[in-house]
Amino acid sequence: MGDSKRTDGSLLAISDLHVAYPENRALVEELRPDGDGDWLLVAGDVGERISDIEWALGLLSERFETVVWAPGNHELWTPHHDPSQLRGDDRYRQLVQLCRRLGVITPEDPYPVWRGEGGPVTVAPLFVLYDYTFRPAHLSRAEALAMARESGVICTDEFFLHPHPYPSRADWCQARLRETERLLDARDHRLPTVLVNHFPLVREPTDVLRHPLFAQWCGTEGTADWHLRYRAAAVVYGHLHIPRTSWHDGVRFEEVSLGYPHERHPRHRERPLRRILPYARTDESADHSACPGRPRGHGPT
Ligand SMILES: [Fe+2]
Ligand SMILES: [Fe+2]
Repeated sequence: MGDSKRTDGSLLAISDLHVAYPENRALVEELRPDGDGDWLLVAGDVGERISDIEWALGLLSERFETVVWAPGNHELWTPHHDPSQLRGDDRYRQLVQLCRRLGVITPEDPYPVWRGEGGPVTVAPLFVLYDYTFRPAHLSRAEALAMARESGVICTDEFFLHPHPYPSRADWCQARLRETERLLDARDHRLPTVLVNHFPLVREPTDVLRHPLFAQWCGTEGTADWHLRYRAAAVVYGHLHIPRTSWHDGVRFEEVSLGYPHERHPRHRERPLRRILPYARTDESADHSACPGRPRGHGPT
C-alpha cells in the first residue's frame, strides 16, 4: 500500500468518472500513468452499478502504483437495475470490501504516506457525506428542500441514496464526521495532509452553482476548518462538475471532475488527470465549465 515506499512519480487526481456513459468509459480506458511511481486519487462518482465501479477501479489499480478512493453519492445509490440491492452503510461496506480485493485504499484503511516530490504527506480519503447545511442561510431545512422540489432541482439522492441504518442522510453525515475526526486526529501529526473528499470541504466553491438551492447536497459546515486543522497541503474534491483550482485560507483546493459528456466542450482536449504533487502553478485548472452556452454545476452530480 505504499506506506514506506520512496516514489519518484506524481500524485494525480480525478473524480466523477460516471462510467455508465460510453464516452466516459472510453476516456477511462485511456487513463495511464506517466511513469511507474504515479499514484491516482479517485474522488468519487465512479458510477452507480457495482460492476461498473469494479471495472473502473480494477483497470486503474492495474495501471497506477497506488489508487486511493473516496466514495461519491453515485456509488452509494441503490439503483433498481443493480444486482446488489444493499442500501446505505451496507452498500458502503460492500464497496470497501470490493476496493480491498482490488488493492484500492479506502477511508476505512490506514492513511498512506506519499513520499515523492512534494512529500511526505499523509493522503487521507474521506467519507463525510452532506447534511444540508450548505442551504441558503435564510431557509430552514424543510423550506430549502421544498423550494428545491418546486424548482425542479431536487437531487436524485433523495430517491436512491438511502441512509440505512441511520434515520436520515444528515444523521449519517454526523456519524461520519465524528468517525473521520477520530481517524484524522490519530494520524502522524508531523506530516501535512492531502485530503480527498467527494464534496468540497468548504462552502465557497458552491457559490458559483447555477442553482444555489442545489448546494444543500454538496457538503457540510462540519468540515469548514478541516483544511487548516489537519494541515492540508491540498484538498481534492469533485461533485460540482466545475473543474478548477481555488485557494481558501492559503490552501489549494482542486476540483478534479471529469463530469458528464454534455458538460465538456467538444473541442476540449486537456488531459483529464490533475497533478496534485509535486505542485506547479502551471498545473492549476481554469473553470472549464465556463464555456459559452454551458450551464455550471447543474443537476444531480
Ligand atoms: Fe457527486
Ligand atoms: Fe458527479
